[in-house]
Amino acid sequence: MRAAQVTKFGDPSVLITADLPDPVPAPGEVLIDVAYADTIFVETQIRSGWGGEFFPVTPPYVPGGGVSGVVSALGPDVPAEWLGRRVTAFVTGSYAERAVAATSALTVVPDSLDLLQAAALVHDGVTATGLMELTAVTETDRVLILGASGGMGTLLVQLAHARGARVVAAARGEAKSALVRDLGADATVDTNSPDWPARARHALGGADGSADVVLDGVGGEPGASAFPLTADGGRFSAHGAPTGGFATLDPTEAKRRDITLFGIADVQFTPADVRRLTASALAEAAAGRLRPVIGEVFSLEGAGEAHAAVEGRGLVGKVVLKM
Ligand SMILES: NC(=O)c1ccc[n+]([C@@H]2O[C@H](COP(=O)([O-])OP(=O)(O)OC[C@H]3O[C@@H](n4cnc5c(N)ncnc54)[C@H](OP(=O)(O)O)[C@@H]3O)[C@@H](O)[C@H]2O)c1
Repeated sequence: MRAAQVTKFGDPSVLITADLPDPVPAPGEVLIDVAYADTIFVETQIRSGWGGEFFPVTPPYVPGGGVSGVVSALGPDVPAEWLGRRVTAFVTGSYAERAVAATSALTVVPDSLDLLQAAALVHDGVTATGLMELTAVTETDRVLILGASGGMGTLLVQLAHARGARVVAAARGEAKSALVRDLGADATVDTNSPDWPARARHALGGADGSADVVLDGVGGEPGASAFPLTADGGRFSAHGAPTGGFATLDPTEAKRRDITLFGIADVQFTPADVRRLTASALAEAAAGRLRPVIGEVFSLEGAGEAHAAVEGRGLVGKVVLKM
């Protein structure tokens, strides 16, 4: 099979396609003919050599984890009914034409959802749906979303809006802001403006211009700047680090103000929760209530270009690889 490998840590040009042996499904596993693989921001950071303490990979390796595709072969003891099913799964190394996964890790894609949309939800749908549960967003909440135009941000805007919350979305530039308004944001603030935190306070409204829930998908200085906007008794999730690091927050100050902090560890869900959250996201999309935004689809040979596009910050939504 063809696969894209990170040949050494470095810029996107280190992603090179190669012929690798087809994986063979073990007992309890299936072989998936991959239709699409999602890309997520952290894959670009790992490729660059960042985060070795959390992600211990050594080149050459096939990056990626999320796939959609069709079951094309069965390992020993796997019921024949799996053959030909359209599924999503988390796998080890998804930038490849074939992958293996345990049947317990598969989610069947609803008939009315195409495999491209399904692939866009494998990671982001799970995390976004899980974040809604963790932070328990309700219709009385004012929610501030940083990184609102990204793959996960575009889902968070829709899910928080669907729960009836007032959604203020932070995005960069008018085109991205227009998109997130179209997805249900009540107001947007342009992070190109240095005074965006003050603008966010104004947009959040209420008595004190604070957010009951902050969903920080960018981290670093913008994440830290959003912390003072959190209401006393509110919730702050620091799950994003495209700036190069998660937001540094003062736990003593959070405790003093009764703010519940969530971090990246809180969005590492159990296998059972991953299956439940995946099924929920796919069902919402199949019903037309959740729209994955696809920024661009690249070929497997274009994996390096796909990473460059993610890093270039020109696209909105999700970057997906088509096998
Ligand atoms: N996807 C998941 O399931 C998942 C799970 C756990 C954690 N996370 C983390 O959540 C974050 C967002 O993930 P994603 O998949 O939505 O990524 P994404 O689609 O690449 O979106 C990244 C967002 O961050 C903004 N951004 C990028 N670089 C930035 C920078 N240097 N400074 C400020 N903003 C920047 C981008 O908007 P602008 O370029 O317009 O600013 C974009 O809205 C990542 O850190 C990821 O690791 C994701």
